[in-house]
Amino acid sequence: MSTIQLHTPIPGPRSRDLMRRRDAAVVRAAYHATPVFVAKAEGAVIEDVDGNRMLDFAGGIGCVNTGHRAPRVVEAIRRQLDRFLHTSFNVLPYESYIALAERLNALTPGKFAKKTILLNTGAEAIENAIKLARAYTKRPAIIAFEDAFHGRSYMAMALTSKTHPYKAGFEPFPGDVYRVPFAYCYSCSYSLQYPSCELHCARHIEDTFKRVVAAESVAAVIVEPVLGEGGFVTPPAEFFPILSEICRKHGILLIADEVQTGFARTGALFACERLGLEPDLIAMAKSLSGGLPLAAVTGRAEIMDTPGPGTLGGTFGGNPLACEAALAVLETIETENLCARANQLGDRFRRRAAEWQSRWELVGEVRGLGAMQALELVRSRQTREPADDETKQVSQYCYEHGLITITAGSYGNVIRLLMPLVVTDAQMDEALDVLESALAAVSHKKGAVAQLV
Ligand SMILES: Cc1ncc(COP(=O)(O)O)c(C=O)c1O
Repeated sequence: MSTIQLHTPIPGPRSRDLMRRRDAAVVRAAYHATPVFVAKAEGAVIEDVDGNRMLDFAGGIGCVNTGHRAPRVVEAIRRQLDRFLHTSFNVLPYESYIALAERLNALTPGKFAKKTILLNTGAEAIENAIKLARAYTKRPAIIAFEDAFHGRSYMAMALTSKTHPYKAGFEPFPGDVYRVPFAYCYSCSYSLQYPSCELHCARHIEDTFKRVVAAESVAAVIVEPVLGEGGFVTPPAEFFPILSEICRKHGILLIADEVQTGFARTGALFACERLGLEPDLIAMAKSLSGGLPLAAVTGRAEIMDTPGPGTLGGTFGGNPLACEAALAVLETIETENLCARANQLGDRFRRRAAEWQSRWELVGEVRGLGAMQALELVRSRQTREPADDETKQVSQYCYEHGLITITAGSYGNVIRLLMPLVVTDAQMDEALDVLESALAAVSHKKGAVAQLV
């Protein structure tokens, strides 16, 4: 029997009623990708308020790699519920915060002494990583990448690349942020081709130090190992070794933003491990705690210990329920071999997506690492013109047929998959069937069936 069970058109009548109340009471800015209100969730399955069962391939934007209500996570939270909910680590500390810091120090890439601070959101982790880098190096400037996304607080917005909807209208941003192109080979900012480009994008940072900002003014380069909101772009294998060498040479720190890539999504606990990147600081959040708000920065002990007592943190950072949940997440990833599972799911997707690419002009590029997979949709393979409206139509077709997906990319033309890694093979195939029908429907509407390549 299929997992997807639809009893009403999507959105159903109760979702529509709630949407009317939502419109009256909640700000427009708190946007949501699907007009469906959730009642329950388990594993990779959502049940909406109209009793429809859907497959969730957005996973709360990559927060439930271990699945909705992962049994160990629920059990850990339950145990903590009976003990205490909040004391603030700043007032009365507790063991789970320390246990989680110890685990993250041991599990993050790099065999040097490390320390950790716990926070609430990805943006907060980014803010703190920048504070730490500036405090340690005593340098002001930060280099970020085109197509990067680092969050919605002011410094995170300054580091984020995409203008609409994330930045426009909120200027001015904190200064001393400089932007350079990422290794986005399908849409190269220098119009070069890999590998004949010889990784010009990475090497060109030396030029940036002459023409834009002096190397000795730069505290850190911040980078998502695989672009998240920017469209699931994985750089070629040489990119991070070259970038790391340049940073080391100039005493510039490397900050990896693993907020979206972390916790088994890319087939390793951290994407850095797969891409030859050993950062000085790592920002984490999302799937760290299986659905509760928790974030962390882990890094070289000497950097992490530069700021004095009371300068970092906040009232709720490292909430005890979230710490217990995170310890259970780490256990679940290990016990259930979710890194290996991510690779299997990625392969399963790639086999299907290769067929779609040969069938429909619309499917410009299939890319990703582990289970962090995406399709970039284009109007023409020749011009690679972003198919943004078509991408919205694909996503809408999907949710109307029981599959929740979200889009990405600076041009809004990427369908990305962030399914829980506990999804079964049968559920995965069912989801891919819906996505295939969506691509077929939108391609035929466009009248743009590809010549087979
Ligand atoms: C790579 C990356 N960094 C930072 C953030 C911001 O995280 P949060 O929304 O928890 O503030 C996100 C959120 O999508 C992200 O994908």
